[in-house]
Amino acid sequence: MTLSERLQAARPTDIGVAGPTPVDMARAFRSVRADPLTFLGRVQQEYGDLVAFPVPGPPALLVNDPADVRHVLQTSARSWGKQTVQYAALGRVTGPGLLASAEPTWIENRRLAAPAFHHQRLEAVSDQVRAAADAAIGARLGGPATGAVDVAALTHRIGLDAVGRALFSTDLSGHAQRLLDATSEAADIVVRLGRSVLPTAAWAPTRTNLRLRTTRRRLDAISADLIAQRRDRGRSEHGTYGDDLLGLLLESGLTDAEIRDELVTMVIAGHETVAAAMAWTLMLLAEDQPAQERVRRELAAHPGPVSLLGHRDTLPFTRAVVDEALRLYPPAWVVSRRSLGEDVVGGRAVPAGTLAIVSPWLVHRRADAWPDPLAFRPERFLGLSGPPPAYLPFGQGPRLCIGREFALGEMVIVLARLLTAYRLDVPAGWTRPEPEARVAVHPRGGMPLVVTALDQARM
Ligand code: HEM
Repeated sequence: MTLSERLQAARPTDIGVAGPTPVDMARAFRSVRADPLTFLGRVQQEYGDLVAFPVPGPPALLVNDPADVRHVLQTSARSWGKQTVQYAALGRVTGPGLLASAEPTWIENRRLAAPAFHHQRLEAVSDQVRAAADAAIGARLGGPATGAVDVAALTHRIGLDAVGRALFSTDLSGHAQRLLDATSEAADIVVRLGRSVLPTAAWAPTRTNLRLRTTRRRLDAISADLIAQRRDRGRSEHGTYGDDLLGLLLESGLTDAEIRDELVTMVIAGHETVAAAMAWTLMLLAEDQPAQERVRRELAAHPGPVSLLGHRDTLPFTRAVVDEALRLYPPAWVVSRRSLGEDVVGGRAVPAGTLAIVSPWLVHRRADAWPDPLAFRPERFLGLSGPPPAYLPFGQGPRLCIGREFALGEMVIVLARLLTAYRLDVPAGWTRPEPEARVAVHPRGGMPLVVTALDQARM
C-alpha cells in the first residue's frame, strides 16, 4: 500500500452522516468506557437515527431506526457478517462457537444444536429448571429472614445451574463454583477486549492476555471433565449419549475442541443474560406491588407446575411482565455486524466493511414506539398479535437467539417458584442500582431486595 493509500484508509469514509467528531470522542473517552449506555443515548439524542463515529476506514454507524435495524439483521442478513471487535473478543474466550462464529458454516452448528432447544426437549427439561430454581432459593432464602438479599447472586446461581441441568443433564454443583468463577472472569475479559481501542496481538504478554490464557485453560479443563464424565457413562439403551446438547454434540462428529467451544458458548450466553434479566424483573416487581400481586394471583390459578412453554396462553400477565422487563433492561445491550459488500442503510449508500452497531437498549426506549418508554407497563404486551417492530431482546433474523424459548420459560418458572412463596419489597431509602453494561447489562453492585416468606408476611 502506498503512503497516500494508507492515509486514505486511515481517514473516515464520509458518507454524509453526522456524528461526534474525534475531539468529542476524546472528551467522552472516560464516559464511553464507564457508562456506554448513557453515552449511546446522548449520541442518539444529538444526532438521530443514524450516527457515524469518526473511525478510520469504512464507516462505523449506530443504527437506531427499527426499519434499518431489521434491514441489517434480518432482510439483508446475508450481506452482513459478525466480523466485528465485539465478536472477535468473545471468540477469544469461546472459540468460534455458535454465537461468535462469523462463518457461513455457523448454520451447520446451529442445526446440530437445534434439537436441544426443540419444544419436546424443553417440555422434558422443565423439571430440571424447576429443580435448579428450588435448590438455589432453598439455599439462599431458606434460613431465617435477614434484611435485604442480593437477588442478583441468587439469579446468577439459578442461571448457571439451569443451563447445566437442561443442556448437559449435569448437576453442575460439583463444578459450579469453578465454572462460575471461570465464566465471570471470562465475561470480564471479553468486556476488556471489546473495549480496547487498539487491538492487542493475541500473543502479547499484556495482563488481559495472560488472564485470558489462564481462564481459557480453566474453561478447557472443566469442559474436558464434562465430556469425559459423559463418555464414561457410555451410551444409553437407545445407543446414544443422550438427547441433550452435550449428547448431540458428542454424536455429531465434532472434535473435542469444537464441542468445548459450543459448551463454553452456551454457558456464557445462557446464564449471564438470564441472570441479569431475572434480577431486573424482580426489581420491577418489588417496586410495583399491584403487578406483583397480579402475577401471584395468576400463578395461584395455574393448574399444576409451570413448564418452560406456553405461557402466553396460560400465564399471560406473568409472561407480559417478563417481556416488559426485557424491554426496559435488555441484557444484550448491543449487537454488531459488518457489511460484506456495498449496501444501503437509512437511505445512505455504504461501502463494504461498514460497521453497524445496534443497541436494543436504545431501540426499546424509543418514545415513538413505546409511549412513556421508561415506565414499567406489562399491559403493553397483552393481546399483541405479533412481535412489536421496536423490540429485539433476542436479536432478529437468522442469528436470533437459539435459547430464546428456554430463557423466557426459565424466567417464568423462577417467578413462579419465588412469588408463590415470597414477597419482594425494595429496601428503605431505595434507589435503583445503575445498569452496568458488561457482556450483559447487570445491576452495578448487585440487586438488594427484601424477600419475606409469605407465611411470615401473613403472621
Ligand atoms: C434473557 C436471556 C437471553 C438474551 C437476552 C439473549 C440474547 C441474545 C441475542 C440478542 C442474540 C443475537 C446476537 C446477534 O445477533 O448478534 C443471541 C444469540 C444467541 N444466544 Fe442468546 N440470549 C439469552 C439467553 C440465551 C440462552 C439461555 C442460551 C443458551 C442456553 C443462549 C444462546 C445463544 C446462542 C448460542 C446465540 C447465537 C445463535 C446464532 O448465532 O445462531 N442465549 N442471544
